[in-house]
Amino acid sequence: MIETTKIIKISNNSSAIQIEWADGQKSIFHYLWLRDNCPKDIHPTARERLFNLVNVSEDIRPESYEIKKSGELEIKWNEGEHTSIFETNWLRNNCYTIKSKKEYISPYKLWDKSLINNLSEISIQCEEIMNSKKKLINWLEILINYGISIIKDGPTKKESGLEVLNRISHVRETFFGTPFEVINIPNPNNTAYTARGLENHTDLPYFEIPPGYQFLHCLINDADGGMSSTIDGFKVADYLRKNELETFEILKKIEVKFINNDYTQKTIRVVNYPLISLTKEGDYKEIRFNISQTGTIECDPNQMEKFYKAYRRFAELLHSKEFSVNFKLAKGDIFSFDNRRVVHGRTEYNPNSGHRHLQGYYMDRDEIQSRLNYLKEIKI
Ligand code: OGA
Ligand code: ZN
Repeated sequence: MIETTKIIKISNNSSAIQIEWADGQKSIFHYLWLRDNCPKDIHPTARERLFNLVNVSEDIRPESYEIKKSGELEIKWNEGEHTSIFETNWLRNNCYTIKSKKEYISPYKLWDKSLINNLSEISIQCEEIMNSKKKLINWLEILINYGISIIKDGPTKKESGLEVLNRISHVRETFFGTPFEVINIPNPNNTAYTARGLENHTDLPYFEIPPGYQFLHCLINDADGGMSSTIDGFKVADYLRKNELETFEILKKIEVKFINNDYTQKTIRVVNYPLISLTKEGDYKEIRFNISQTGTIECDPNQMEKFYKAYRRFAELLHSKEFSVNFKLAKGDIFSFDNRRVVHGRTEYNPNSGHRHLQGYYMDRDEIQSRLNYLKEIKI
């Protein structure tokens, strides 16, 4: 046992046990919380709780408790003839007195056009993530912190991107298929499947939860044009929050309708969300931005002028040189980004000048974070 987790004093009152630790920290553990988290009532393989808190009274309390010689806290409960044993490290790791005092620290590293000079910070050789756990961790951390990464020198066979992504997890299916083929075709059901330029956007904003990550695997990119552009939407939101608060507040408040009526599908999709959403801590949660897939705005008429002013300003910044990183994808690159944070686009290309074929994949944010948690062996 490490010194900081040693218990030096234990006491109790009518509702909780109090612990003083060797490093001076103090914890309060409420009785019902302790009973609810008894390690004996966790299924050994399912790792799920078997105990139902309604099967004890609100007033459950210890008949007796003691710190064992081994350092564990043993509690004999006054109900249900049950004894719980808590390891000291577990108590310390799960101390909500200490945790609830901790200041929130954002994981995000916001970026602007200057990232083009530091592309090595977000680039990784494909072979390294295929063969090294450390590099895989590195990739996942980049995806979470920067929301953008470019995998270099990957395979170029059709669907080979999947082997790389399976280092993380399974992908998210959509009606565009897996992978979706970003190629110039007749009668496309999406403007991405043309040779047109695409304004910066996030994909699939008309889903309740749009895919967290997108991976564009470049199989060939020999045509003239087809330059990629990308902007950190959280950086733009942060700029507005610091410099144009009224615009920021409107974008956060007014809901926008996103629509899809795909001619190859029997669905009509409609959802309403603001363009900027925050977490409960006030950090950035999500940007939805897709001019092509936005329906008619239906806010209160008194808000319409303000809304359009803010929307135009946001659109302007989400295409501005100050924030934009532009590059041409090379054969074997996997352009990977947080689709609920980063906007992406491309310039028009000339399909008669050469070939351009990307294969696209989606993955939920859960898959990225939960694999990283596992690889880093976090305690839960
Ligand atoms: C897409 C897209 C960009 C590109 O398929 O969603 O934005 O570079 N493609 O073709
Ligand atoms: Zn797209």
